[in-house]
Amino acid sequence: MTFVQGLLKGKVAFVAGGTSGINLAIADALAQYGASVCVMSRDPAKVDTATAHLARHGGEVRGYPGDVRDFGAVERVVGSATDALGAFDIVVSGAAGNFICPANKLSPNGFRVVVDIDLIGTFHVLRAAYGSLRRPGASIINISAPQSTEAFWGQAHVSAAKAGVDMLTRSLAVEWGHEGIRVNAIVPGPIEGTEGVERLAPTPEIREAWGKANPMRRTGTGAEVANVALFLSSEAASYVNGAIIYCDGGQVLGGARDYRESWEALQAAKGG
Ligand code: NAP
Ligand code: COA
Repeated sequence: MTFVQGLLKGKVAFVAGGTSGINLAIADALAQYGASVCVMSRDPAKVDTATAHLARHGGEVRGYPGDVRDFGAVERVVGSATDALGAFDIVVSGAAGNFICPANKLSPNGFRVVVDIDLIGTFHVLRAAYGSLRRPGASIINISAPQSTEAFWGQAHVSAAKAGVDMLTRSLAVEWGHEGIRVNAIVPGPIEGTEGVERLAPTPEIREAWGKANPMRRTGTGAEVANVALFLSSEAASYVNGAIIYCDGGQVLGGARDYRESWEALQAAKGG
């Protein structure tokens, strides 16, 4: 699947948490289709590797280390990126932390750290970027997760944080829409080769079972999520605001809880 080359030529994108996994795949697609891109994350080595990777598309690329939990740091990075590249047309907020831990074993600080990164970090990014957005026409894309609406064992902290991200998305869509700033979110399903999947499905057997349980019988790719981000970044999405868009192969519809195995067992018992 390809979009028109130069789709985002002349646009400037800022991707918070854009140095690995899904967010890097999004930053890569934005750069591939002509946008100047700035990425930010905590680890300076990851920032350097990501900027070198993005620069192969030939456009302007910047990268700055920073923690989204530190509003001052986010403001400084946004200032540097704006000075270097100009006002932002696209902002992606995808920095996140995740680990499995049941609530009765989770320390208050363990709960807080995920809410701090995912939810408060997203507020920091959007609040700091607000003054640097080119309007009308700016597109903000938050990266949510299935946990925002589905409850999973060992994921109370993530559900609390990502549900907040969804409502922040909708609230700011309402507040900023009249300025020509669209605010949407993408909910990726299980995306192969990512830190998130490595943490939640730590063995090949579990990962294979996840793929089989999806209605499309497979996990997704970062590029497939990036395609949704390209759409949301483009003029084609000019009236899409406040949407929470699933890119999950239909997982949210209940693929993980289908009755295929039961049906097959019943057929086998009937000799069918
Ligand atoms: P990942 O590779 O670990 O991506 C997280 C990114 O955020 C990294 O670049 C990381 O870089 C950065 N980051 C983490 N904490 C940060 C902080 N405090 N300040 C600034 N940057 C920070 O994980 P991923 O699995 O691709 O997930 C990316 C996004 O997709 C997340 O929002 C996640 O919730 C969402 N998601 C993932 C899946 C999946 O299947 N993987 C499914 C649904 C939703 P540093 O370590 O350098 O900070
Ligand atoms: N189980 C239970 N609690 C955990 C935990 C785990 N696996 N990992 C961390 N915690 C707790 C810590 O014990 C600590 O609480 P405490 O002070 O009461 O002991 C708290 O969380 C903070 O841990 P710390 O290691 O200091 O946080 P950090 O800021 O260095 O790292 C994390 C943040 C914990 C989210 C880390 O996993 C991370 O950086 N993740 C980014 C990558 C990622 O998760 N990618 C997937 C995205 S879907």
